[in-house]
Amino acid sequence: MKRVRVVFITVVCFDQGLGLPLAFGGKPRWRLDRRDFIRFMGRGTAAGIAIQFLPAWADRARGGAGRSFRAISPSSDDALVLAEGLKADVLLRWGDALDHQGDLYFGYNCDYTAYFPLPSINEGLLWVNHEYTHPLFFSTSTVGGKSREQTELEMRNVGGSVVHIRRDHGLWQPVLGSPYNRRFDALTHIPFAWPEPIDGMASAVGTVQNCAGGVTPWNTVLSCEENYQSAFGDYAYDHGGGKRLVTDKAVDEWYLYFNHSPEHYGWVVEINPFTGTAKKLISLGRFCHEGATTVEAADGRCVVYMGDDAAGECIYKFISDRPGSLDSGELYVADTFNGRWLSLSFERNAKLQAHFKSQTDVLLRTREAARIAGGTPQDRPEDIKIDPLTGAVIVALTNNKANKNLFGSLLKIEEAGGDPLAMDFSSSVFLMGGEASGFACPDNLAFDRHGHLWMTSDISSSAVGKKEYAPFKNNGLFVIPMRGANAGRVLQVASAPVDAELTGPFFSPDGNTLFLSIQHPGEESTDLNRLTSHWPDGGTSIPKPSVVAISGPLLRHPERIIF
Ligand code: FEO
Ligand code: CA
Ligand code: CA
Repeated sequence: MKRVRVVFITVVCFDQGLGLPLAFGGKPRWRLDRRDFIRFMGRGTAAGIAIQFLPAWADRARGGAGRSFRAISPSSDDALVLAEGLKADVLLRWGDALDHQGDLYFGYNCDYTAYFPLPSINEGLLWVNHEYTHPLFFSTSTVGGKSREQTELEMRNVGGSVVHIRRDHGLWQPVLGSPYNRRFDALTHIPFAWPEPIDGMASAVGTVQNCAGGVTPWNTVLSCEENYQSAFGDYAYDHGGGKRLVTDKAVDEWYLYFNHSPEHYGWVVEINPFTGTAKKLISLGRFCHEGATTVEAADGRCVVYMGDDAAGECIYKFISDRPGSLDSGELYVADTFNGRWLSLSFERNAKLQAHFKSQTDVLLRTREAARIAGGTPQDRPEDIKIDPLTGAVIVALTNNKANKNLFGSLLKIEEAGGDPLAMDFSSSVFLMGGEASGFACPDNLAFDRHGHLWMTSDISSSAVGKKEYAPFKNNGLFVIPMRGANAGRVLQVASAPVDAELTGPFFSPDGNTLFLSIQHPGEESTDLNRLTSHWPDGGTSIPKPSVVAISGPLLRHPERIIF
C-alpha cells in the first residue's frame, strides 16, 4: 500500500539463513581506500582508528588467526540472506499463539527487542515492540473505508509482547501458555507517571507506534511511541494555548471510531516484563520517540539519550532526579553547534516561561520548547547507543531529503570528561552513508560484548532498489569493527527479504544469540494475489513480520569478518 508516513518506512527481508554465503560473493562496490576511510571517519575520529588501518588483504594474508568470514554483497532476493558463520531460526511470527486458548497472540510489525534473563541461563523473557499495521493484511483494503471491527483488530496488533522463551539444544522457542506471556496493545489502559492529569485523564487507552526502546538499569523495558499522529492525529496549538485536532497525518484513521486525545501518545512507556506493570513517562517529553538508551551515572542517577525521528528534529538527554526511577528529572536538548545540553526546565529556562504555562505544558509540546531553547535540528535522529569501551554516544541520523542528505550518517557525541551528567560535549561525524562506505539510512544500533557496532539500515520500502538507493538493494544488517584491521569499515552480514527492514537487534547476555526483527516484508503489496514477498514461509503464503534468533561463530568472532 502507499501509506503516507512522515517517516520513511524501510523494508528489509532476510532469508532463513541458509548461508548462501558465496552465492553473493564478489567484492562490494564500495570498498574504501585509506584516503576515503579517513575522510569518512570524520575529524577527530580518523586519527585514533586509522592508525590501526590495514588493507583488507592483510586479514587474509595473516592466517593463523582462526577462520574468517566473508561479508555479503547487497541482495534483492526475497530471503533473509546471511553471511557465512551465521544462521537464523524463526522464533516468533505474526499471529503465533502465546496461550493455549489462542486469545493471546504475537502482534504485527515487530521492532525493538529486549531480552531479560530468568534464573536459568537458557530461559528468559523477550520484549518485542509492534510498531504499526498494514490495512491489506487486516481489512483487505488500502487506507480508508475500514470498519470499527477492522480498526479494533489493527489496534490489537500493535503495542508490544512479553514472551517467555527457552533454549533447548541451541534452539530458542516460545513457552506456550507461560504466565509471563502478555500483550500490551492500543486498547490497554496505561497510567501516566505524572502528578497532573494529561488532557484531563490519569491514564491513556493504549500504546501505539512502538518503535525502538531501551532497558533500564533496574530491568524494565522502555518502549517508544514514534509516529503517534498516525493513529489519532495531533493537536495544533495557537499562541494563546488553545488547541485543535488535525488529522491530515492520521493515516491509520483510528480517530474515526475512537476519540482518544493525541496528548496521550508520543511518550516513552516503561514496562516491567516480569510483573506486567506499565506507565507512560511524561518527564521524558512528547515527540516522535525513536529509542531510549540508558546509562547509570556515577551517583546512581539514570541518564537517557533519545532521538526524535523527524526531519529537522532534535537529540535529547534526560537526567533522573534519583536512582531507580525515571518518573521525574530534567530534560535537555542538544545544541550540537556549541556542544551544550540546553535545559527544558520551565523553572530554570526563562525563554520557556515566556511561551508556556507550566512544565506539563513544556513536556506536551517538547518540539516547540526545544526550538525556543536553541536545540539543533538534525537529519532524523534514529537509534542511539553508547560505546561500552569509550563511553562515546553514537547517534544514527538516517537521512533528510530536505537537506539533500539521502544516505544519512553516524554522529559521535563525547561528553566532557566522559561524564553522562556533563552539560558540555563535543560532536563529530563518525561515518557517512553513501556508496563509498556501503550503507544508507542507518537506523538501529547495537554494540556486541566485544565492543563492535552492529547496525541496521532503513531505506524506505518505496525507495529500495530505486534511483540513488539502487546500489544498496534490500535493507541490511552490518557490522562495524571498532578495532583491528577493519576498524571503521561497514561490512554487510545480512540482507532483508523484499520490502522489509531489519530492526531491534539485541544480543543475549552470553553473546551467542542476536535477536532481530524482520519488519514489514511485502509492505509494497497492494493485492493479496500479487504479493511482493512470501517471507518467511515461501510458496504463495502471505508475508509475516517475525523475530529471528541468529547464532553462529561469526557472533563470537566478529573481528574475523573480511571483505
Ligand atoms: Fe520506527 Fe524511526 O523508525
Ligand atoms: Ca527505527
Ligand atoms: Ca526508521
